[in-house]
Amino acid sequence: MASRPKEQWGTKVGVILAVAGSAVGLGNFLRFPGQAAQNGGGAFMIPYFLALVLIAIPMCWAEWTMGRYGGRFGFNSCPAIFGVIGRNKFWRFSGVLGLLIPVGVYMYYVYLEAWCLGYAWSYFTGDIVNQLGTAPAEYASNSGKFFDKFVGAEADGLTSAGGGIQSAVFFWLITFTLNFILIYRGIAKGIERFCIIAMPIMTVCAFLVLIRVLTLGTPDPAHPEQNVVNGLAFMWNPKAGPGEPWWYALADAEVWLAACGQVFFSLSVGFGIIVNYASYLRQDDDVVLSGLTAASTNEFFEVCLGGLITLPAAFVFLGVAGATSGAAGGTFGLGFNTLPAVFMHMPEVGGFQTGRVVGFLWFFMLFLAAITSSLSMLQPAIAFLEEGLGIGRRASVALLGLITALGSFFVIYFSKGLVALDTIDFWVGTAMIFVLAMVEVVLFGWVMGVERGFEEAHRGAAIRIPAFFKFIIKYVSPTFLFVIFVMWCMNNLPARIEGIAAGGVALGAIMVLAALFIFLTLLVAIAGPRWQAETLDTHKTRGFPVGGGQ
Ligand code: ALA
Repeated sequence: MASRPKEQWGTKVGVILAVAGSAVGLGNFLRFPGQAAQNGGGAFMIPYFLALVLIAIPMCWAEWTMGRYGGRFGFNSCPAIFGVIGRNKFWRFSGVLGLLIPVGVYMYYVYLEAWCLGYAWSYFTGDIVNQLGTAPAEYASNSGKFFDKFVGAEADGLTSAGGGIQSAVFFWLITFTLNFILIYRGIAKGIERFCIIAMPIMTVCAFLVLIRVLTLGTPDPAHPEQNVVNGLAFMWNPKAGPGEPWWYALADAEVWLAACGQVFFSLSVGFGIIVNYASYLRQDDDVVLSGLTAASTNEFFEVCLGGLITLPAAFVFLGVAGATSGAAGGTFGLGFNTLPAVFMHMPEVGGFQTGRVVGFLWFFMLFLAAITSSLSMLQPAIAFLEEGLGIGRRASVALLGLITALGSFFVIYFSKGLVALDTIDFWVGTAMIFVLAMVEVVLFGWVMGVERGFEEAHRGAAIRIPAFFKFIIKYVSPTFLFVIFVMWCMNNLPARIEGIAAGGVALGAIMVLAALFIFLTLLVAIAGPRWQAETLDTHKTRGFPVGGGQ
């Protein structure tokens, strides 16, 4: 068996909080409301829940189960674990996606995390409140200017339009370092301990902001229609195009694709993360109830908190037009342009801007949500470097630090129009997730086999998975995924390929990803023979049937 020191989660609640922390992130609070509002409001929830029940939750169980199974052989990374389950090189190499995705997403996600910290700091010091001005008519344009200057969205390079290094770069250095300090501390002392502290703080901050939003009433008597109830209706009433019955939204393929992509990104399913986290479980630790609990926690944060805060608040102060353009601005527009303007509209109490407190709580909460997610994006690669190269934690942290610093620097440097960020997000944060999800569902449902997979999942389980999920995992999930993926490719790939062919930053971003892919694939090729020997060794020493291996 592998001779590496075995890391394990400290507590049962700790692992659930860590997986939930990985899932709850910017996707829940910023991506979800924009996607839902733009794709039929309440109607979006129909494909959303179907994708959740028919693909995402079964996939969570599959990832938890495969991860714990791989941990039995002393393995923690997707290539090694997929190799043990699939018993051939194809599956081992397909695990490269379980490294490429989290590392690729980390490269830009840590930058977004830095924005959250920077905005929280700016609310704390009051700087942003001063810069957004005093006249309500100026808030929106000043908010846009503040954002562009902060992240350097107007030009490539590290300096902002007014001169000086973009503030986001300093916050990036802080968040980047913090992530690596926590990762270096390990599973139980770093990730788990941080999540145990961060998740409750995050929940309290989110509830405080929610209470503030739901008690806004009708703040502007001149616009009685701009009230909280109508804000919730704006977000949640099912709708289609003008004059169409709401269910027309369901005939739009884009709505299904958006719902599916959102569920995956939000639950961190198809990232290779859950497989890695579950590999640190003990062999009889429950995976069924834990997987369901972590997924339900994520859904609570997404639908009940993310879905009730951002757009209703925008509606109350900015009306239909403001909330619609906020939603259309996507993750960044809504979070970093629209909301700061919304917070400025909040009433003053005793001469104090209440929006400043709400803004601080909001962005600090987003920062915590983001960091519990970004930690989970680093751990799979750390585990891989340790078990792939046989190097210690210090060396693997240093190597991954260097790789991600280079990639992240690319994103920060080419900040004009956020093209680098958007390109990497598209290819690894959406396209590759579909591919890895398909790989995993076939590996679990067909290669491991649903019968064996369910038997493995039920070992130590606190609840049983209803038997009809066997049919779902084997037939429905792969078919649903495949159809969605093909439709998604037809709708999105031509324009993206044109963008890459035009050269420039989009092409550069693809080259960064290709270099990372080749590097990881080479390492898997080097590690393979040693893993094979370790697997056989485990089979012999633990009494598993000899002849397995990869
Ligand atoms: N699941 C993480 C999020 O939603 C990546 O942000």
